Amino acid sequence: MQYTLLAKDKNSEARCGVLTTAHGEIHTPVFMPVGTVGSVKAVHMRELKEDIRAEIILGNTYHLYLRPGTEILQAAGGLHRFNGWDRPILTDSGGFQVFSLTGTGRKITEEGVTFRSHIDGSKHLFTPENVMDIQRQIGADIVMAFDECPPGTSDYNYARHSLGLTQRWLERCVARFDETAPLYGYEQNLFPIVQGCTYRDLREKAAEHAVSLNRAGYAIGGLAVGEPAEEMYAMIEVVNRILPQDKPRYLMGVGTPENILEGIQRGVDMFDCVMPTRNGRNGMIFTTEGTINIKNQKWERDFSSIDPAALSYVDTDYSKAYLRHLIKSDEILGLQICSIHNLSFYLWLVREARKHIQEGDFVAWKTKLLPKITRRL
Ligand code: GUN
Repeated sequence: MQYTLLAKDKNSEARCGVLTTAHGEIHTPVFMPVGTVGSVKAVHMRELKEDIRAEIILGNTYHLYLRPGTEILQAAGGLHRFNGWDRPILTDSGGFQVFSLTGTGRKITEEGVTFRSHIDGSKHLFTPENVMDIQRQIGADIVMAFDECPPGTSDYNYARHSLGLTQRWLERCVARFDETAPLYGYEQNLFPIVQGCTYRDLREKAAEHAVSLNRAGYAIGGLAVGEPAEEMYAMIEVVNRILPQDKPRYLMGVGTPENILEGIQRGVDMFDCVMPTRNGRNGMIFTTEGTINIKNQKWERDFSSIDPAALSYVDTDYSKAYLRHLIKSDEILGLQICSIHNLSFYLWLVREARKHIQEGDFVAWKTKLLPKITRRL
């Protein structure tokens, strides 16, 4: 996997580049739509490619392991063959999902985590080793390390112990990943995840340790988990001062359009978040004029297009009033339109960011755009 930096902003840490994978190029900064079970909810692959212009999607090890299971995925020839997405795929390790299964008998030990399936209650064990094996079987281009993602409110002592565990697990992930081969004939790459909650010294230690393992890219985890945004931004700065310039940096699970632009300004290259799709299915629409709750009565007779900037064909094919009617009526088409629109908005946002980094006016562009797009309409 090759990462080529194309431009660096003079007034901030923002950069743009191209990441070349076995399934094609990813232009950074990039937003990666979330397809937890191998499907981006309510969106066809054709729409993802041609309308939304997504370059990479996410899958989740926890969900794919439980269903359909690795035996089926291997029989299909990997997730790309199974779901018909022939561009890059990144899989999260399942760490984040397993840790959110609180109150279900989940148990963390040095060996790994035992947990119960949310589907049928069956008992399973994830270890750094088997999570690497499962991601080999899924066949993602980018494979994430198995980490512990502690709550944003963790005290220093908990955060320090948790980071120790994540670092030992990371070394086991690297060892297993490097002693196993891809199953489908194309290259896969393992990204470490930098943890350390909101403690600077822990974040520094974590970043230095991750860099010492010399991987093709690095992720920043454990953010947007309940801490104030300013602390998140401060942690990104601390970590990105240590991560190498010539490798991509992925901020996991973030965030709002504002969080993404602030992340780009601080040198982040890759983002993912369920917000455009999950909030979209609930009627929250991001537009170039501001954010809309399409369920509000205010839109009942508004026959204007969803977004005057026409970021996607759905924006001009359908009106706000019609979309409101669909969502109020629980129509499947409403979920499809909201998802396609919001993902088109997020992909537009990062494409614009890329353009302005190259043109040299990223910060000025961001400062002008943010008040407009963060308005509540
Ligand atoms: N998704 C969002 N945050 C995290 C994290 O800290 N770890 C993992 N594995 N996934 C995430």
